[in-house]
Amino acid sequence: MHAATAWSGISKHLDTYLTNPKLLVSGTNMEFDGIEVAADRGDVLAYLRQYSSSPQDIPEASPTARPVEVSLSPEVMEIVGDPAYGEYLSNECTTCHQSDGDYDGIPAIVGWYEEDFVLAMHAYKQKLRPHPVMQMMAGRLSDEEIAALAAYFGNLD
Ligand code: HEC
Repeated sequence: MHAATAWSGISKHLDTYLTNPKLLVSGTNMEFDGIEVAADRGDVLAYLRQYSSSPQDIPEASPTARPVEVSLSPEVMEIVGDPAYGEYLSNECTTCHQSDGDYDGIPAIVGWYEEDFVLAMHAYKQKLRPHPVMQMMAGRLSDEEIAALAAYFGNLD
């Protein structure tokens, strides 16, 4: 099964499940009593989001939801990307990332929230995310180009 499909099926209930697995899943034999502290659940959700090919399917739990991995000025976050320019730039991405959103060893990047996409790209650009190829790809892009790619890929699914 497609990893993203599996995630979206359970995502709605993940926070509840992490609070108390037995509330949600009867007969679960997982040796796990739940995480009572909301902040700890937020950490788990943030951790899962980081490693998911579709982080938008995993709920955020405030206030600790988003791992503080990159901070961008409001001006950068507010850039409205031009999807047509994003499509033009996307050729060099789709040599690796599948434009139909399939996960084939390389994470899917279509249908993300634009904000998450922008943050991920800047995390590579600032070398906060370690992957060298993506650091190089993102390092060559301007803030406007990242916004354009986010606008283009965000509306593909
Ligand atoms: C040479 C192959 C390759 C190319 C070209 C490439 N990527 Fe990636 N990309 C990857 C790999 C591999 C990862 C997973 C990296 C990691 O583990 O952090 C990734 C991760 C990402 C992520 C984060 C995904 C996640 O789930 O967190 C985004 C967003 C992304 N790429 C966007 C792009 C964009 C936009 C372009 C084009 C400008 C691009 N990539 C070009 C291979 C590539």
